[in-house]
Amino acid sequence: GTGYLTEVSHSLNGNALSTLHSASDASFNPMVSSNNQRQTPEGSIGLKRRIGLMSGASLIVGTMIGSGIFVSPKGVLQRSGSVGMSLLVWTGCGLLSLLGALCYAELGTMITKSGAEYSYLLEAFGPIPAYLFSWVSVFVLKPSMLAIICLSFGEYVVGPLSVGCSPDPLLVKLVTILAIGIITFINCFSVQLATQIQNICTVAKLSAVAIIVVGGAVKLSQGHIQHFNKGFEGTSSSFSDIATAFYSGLWAYDGWNNLNYITEELVNPFVNLPRAIYFGIPLVTVCYVLINISYLTVMSTTEVLASEAVAMTWASRVLGVMAFLMPLTIAISTFGAGNGTDFTTGRLTFVAAREGHLVGILSYVHIRRFTPSPALITNAILAICMIIPGNIGSLIDFFSFTAWLFYGATMTALVVLRWKKKDIARPYKVPLVVPFVVMAISAYLVLAPIIQQPQIEYLYALLFIVSGLILYVPFVHYKLELRIMDKITVFLQLLLEVTPTSPITS
Ligand code: ARG
Repeated sequence: GTGYLTEVSHSLNGNALSTLHSASDASFNPMVSSNNQRQTPEGSIGLKRRIGLMSGASLIVGTMIGSGIFVSPKGVLQRSGSVGMSLLVWTGCGLLSLLGALCYAELGTMITKSGAEYSYLLEAFGPIPAYLFSWVSVFVLKPSMLAIICLSFGEYVVGPLSVGCSPDPLLVKLVTILAIGIITFINCFSVQLATQIQNICTVAKLSAVAIIVVGGAVKLSQGHIQHFNKGFEGTSSSFSDIATAFYSGLWAYDGWNNLNYITEELVNPFVNLPRAIYFGIPLVTVCYVLINISYLTVMSTTEVLASEAVAMTWASRVLGVMAFLMPLTIAISTFGAGNGTDFTTGRLTFVAAREGHLVGILSYVHIRRFTPSPALITNAILAICMIIPGNIGSLIDFFSFTAWLFYGATMTALVVLRWKKKDIARPYKVPLVVPFVVMAISAYLVLAPIIQQPQIEYLYALLFIVSGLILYVPFVHYKLELRIMDKITVFLQLLLEVTPTSPITS
């Protein structure tokens, strides 16, 4: 059959599943266990299918639109060198995200386990690449995403309050930590609450987008086209500049793969996953390109380059006394993106731990709330560690480099599975050139900066990825168990009221 996939989905009984990770078996606490048997019939503890099409689309749109579009236009313009090229880069990033997401639609409807890249790499290449992905994601990528997003939240909340002086960095960090705390609480508290907040934030940010687009259209119609006259003059001819311009833009588009992390919680994933992708990503692309046109209608390139936060300068020009609305909506927008990021990260951690690639407790779920709270709390702690030294720019470059390394690898997984698993049903099938195109572009994005301007950070990133093997060999491959871990697990299980899960049933 289809190997572990069928094995997992057929073992509806909680005990059968807990043998999948022996640590949980040994530490399964009778008190907690009898408790949950009273509350719910055996086998039904786990994440539930609760996300519909609208919430799914809002998870994509709402995590894609975060801080990036309000901050990155400067980076894209600087690195691409001209107005024309920057608009092309923004469009290109959208197209690339769409192509990538179409491949993920095939993968996600064929392998309906949550965890996106993790589950696909596991199916195509076996445990080691999947493990390395979860290692880098859980310990670096995902917490640094949450950190970047919440830092922007902090800046936009503290900024308007500190009139006339630059915002106090300590205060910004405190507000950031507060935001991470609140987001984590919401996500541990209830899936419904988290999705409702996600939906509200998405509506709020789409209104902000609409304001910027309409404001720009009004100015354009008044004949402010002088900044577009230069077209492609000054376009950078360096390959690595264009690649890093893409890095800035792609950060704003990141999140196009978010729904794939929670396929197990999606109602009717075969239909809703592709639909949410078809709807969400073109919508975001159109918004981003129009927003950039609006920025450039109101500001010259020099002004965009001089502005730390383009959207704010834009607002003070166009909105006048209502300019205070802008930081408010950006704060809501980043909060929503942070919430969506945290939501999906919890699931990735959960799936990798369920497979035995991370400490067992990370796959436990709250006995009444059905949320993966240990995974969420771990993510929060790591994110807080990252904001303490935090410099956003370098975080973003490192992020895009590593992320595209794995997106490229996932494209390879799609191609390999076409041939290795010919007979699996594929409710959605992407034309085979698409993964090849995305693969080529991601290879370019990863290699061009390394070749043209080697920076030691890229080497560190690679070393970090490989260093995951040091833990893999003893703990995953040889299944080494530390006595103390059982004690810790039991303690945490009682403290957090969590239990091992049974697999998702529809
Ligand atoms: N695109 C978002 C922004 O501009 C960041 C998305 C973070 N990525 C993710 N997979 N959650 O702020």
